Amino acid sequence: MDLKELVQWAIKAPSGHNTQPWQFKISDQTIGILPDLRRRLPVVDPDDHALFISLGCALENLLVAANHFKLDAKVELFPSSETEECILVRFAPKEGRDEDQLFPAIATRQSNRGTYDGQPIPPVDLETLQKATKQEGVRCRMFVGSAAVEPLLQFILEGTRQQYRDKTFVRELASWIRFNQAEAKKFQDGLYALAIGSPTAPRWLGTLFMTVFTNPESMAHNFSALARGSSALALFIALKNDKSHWVQLGRSFQRFALTAASLGIASAHLNMPCEVVAVRKRLQEHLQLGDAQPLLLLRLGYGKPMPYSLRRPPEKVLLS
Ligand SMILES: Cc1cc2nc3c(=O)[nH]c(=O)nc-3n(C[C@H](O)[C@H](O)[C@H](O)COP(=O)(O)O)c2cc1C
Repeated sequence: MDLKELVQWAIKAPSGHNTQPWQFKISDQTIGILPDLRRRLPVVDPDDHALFISLGCALENLLVAANHFKLDAKVELFPSSETEECILVRFAPKEGRDEDQLFPAIATRQSNRGTYDGQPIPPVDLETLQKATKQEGVRCRMFVGSAAVEPLLQFILEGTRQQYRDKTFVRELASWIRFNQAEAKKFQDGLYALAIGSPTAPRWLGTLFMTVFTNPESMAHNFSALARGSSALALFIALKNDKSHWVQLGRSFQRFALTAASLGIASAHLNMPCEVVAVRKRLQEHLQLGDAQPLLLLRLGYGKPMPYSLRRPPEKVLLS
């Protein structure tokens, strides 16, 4: 099989602000996934943990696709034998059926930022989701029902307030928003207005609205209401704070997101309490996590599909 075909599935992975911070190097029977550090987010992600989580998501898509196309895959995280920092995946043909059936969800999964209807998720599906998160070095804690969700709202409120009061955060976010179709088509990355539930606008108007008229307090209350209206929250925790654990967390989260999509469950990030370091620390203490790092917070529920976000084509991310 032409390994280029696998890359096309890997790049459908989620990434912070849809920066798509990856490059792929194909040689012989291997694919190397390399970080593209030109696509860092220095304000919201100064230590690059979200960047390496995104690489983990792309890796998981690659593995799900390989399994579907009857390829065995062996993963090495940042092997010292390689001259460049990369995740190396070695492929070989294998027999047998695709047991996990997650492949179709690679195309249907999306971050759904709409409102959810608050219907409970059946316990059997919650159990399937929890199982999907199993990955060495990572834990996922689910919060189901208002008694479990309410105590987390203070962290969502505080994280959002702090982010939207920070002009550098808002400017960085605005720089990755594709305010209209022409911008979305041109860049094929970033947050397309329609995909995040906003109206389209000329860049000058969108930027003005974000930098002058966005009120941190009302943003905080909007996100808190979205959390309250969801069926459950899921918090992804890395047992250590290093690149390998971030990649592992990305794998765990992506398998969870694919499983949710295959069960018809929508999901979206509410990462603010994980992104603002002081708030993350308070959350860590509140949940008695010790040194383990709460790095992604997701809401889950049932909602209408949203327009899909765009990806750059494989040619743009393949290294020769
Ligand atoms: C590590 C990581 C962090 C993310 N952080 C946020 C976030 O804080 N808020 C948000 O709305 N979406 C967040 N997202 C979702 C991305 O914006 C989304 O994956 C991207 O725009 C592509 O859209 P899609 O997931 O619908 O394909 C994050 C995704 C990843 C992988």
